[in-house]
Amino acid sequence: MTETIAALKSRLSALPEVAIVLGSGLGPFAEEVEDAVVIPYEEIPGWPRSTAVGHAGKLVFGTVAGRRVAVMSGRAHLYEGHPIEKVVLGVRVLAQLGARKVILTNAAGGINLSFSRGALVLMTDHINLQGANPLSGPNDDSLGPRFPDMTFAYAPRFRALALEHAKRLGIPLHQGVYAALAGPSYETPAEIRYLRIIGADLVGMSTVPEVIALNHMGAEVLGISCVTNMAAGVTKEKINHEEVIETGNQVRGQFIRLLQSIIPSL
Ligand code: HPA
Repeated sequence: MTETIAALKSRLSALPEVAIVLGSGLGPFAEEVEDAVVIPYEEIPGWPRSTAVGHAGKLVFGTVAGRRVAVMSGRAHLYEGHPIEKVVLGVRVLAQLGARKVILTNAAGGINLSFSRGALVLMTDHINLQGANPLSGPNDDSLGPRFPDMTFAYAPRFRALALEHAKRLGIPLHQGVYAALAGPSYETPAEIRYLRIIGADLVGMSTVPEVIALNHMGAEVLGISCVTNMAAGVTKEKINHEEVIETGNQVRGQFIRLLQSIIPSL
C-alpha cells in the first residue's frame, strides 16, 4: 500500500477530500470531474485490474462542485478472483491520501417489492453473506482497531444529507438494507425469498468489504444503490448483465444531479 500511495502522490498536485466509487453502469459520472487527472489502473503499482464489463478501470482526480475528489471508475470484486485485501485496496489508499468521506455506489437487485427497476436506494445497513471479511488476519493497528464497531457503518449524518438533497431536487430516494453475496451467479428465487425474510431490501456482489475497511479506518461512508433489475423470481424475467448496464444508463442523469448536489455538502 505504501508504494501505491507514493506513486499516486507523485502524480498529484492536490490531495482528494472525497472519494466516489462508481458501480456497474454508473461510470459516466467520471466525466463530470473538472481539471481531471486520469490514471488508468494499469499504471498504478499494486492496484487490482478491473475485469467486470461496465467498469472502466481508471482513477480520476479533480474537482466536483468545488470539492477535491478521487473517482474510482471500476472496482475489484471477489468474484473476479481478487483476494479481499485487493478488493479494498483502492478505498484504503484513497482514505490514506485524505479522502475520509467516501461515496460508494453499486448496481443491485431489488428484493423489496416497493422498489422498481431504476430506483435509487440509500443504503442504511448491510448483511455480509460473502463469507469473507477484509479485516481477517493480523490487525494493522496503525489503520484501526481489531474489533471495529459497525453500528453506524453508513454515517447517519450523510444519510440525512442525502435524503435532504434528493427531496430538494425532486429525485425519489428509497432506503434499504443491502445483502452482499460473493457471486458471480445471480441468486436463485429461493435465495431471494430467504434474503427478504432476513431483512434485506437489495442484493449485490460488492461494496460491503469496502464499507468494513473504511469503518475500520474511521472514514465516513455514504452508500447509494441503483436497482438495475428486480431480484430473481420477483418478475417472470431472467436477469442479465446487459439489463444491469442499461438501467445504469437510464438513471445516469438523476444519479449525476444527486451526487453533484451532495458532494459539496459532505
Ligand atoms: N443480484 C446480485 N447482484 C446484482 C444484481 C442482482 O440481481 N443486480 C445487479 N447486481
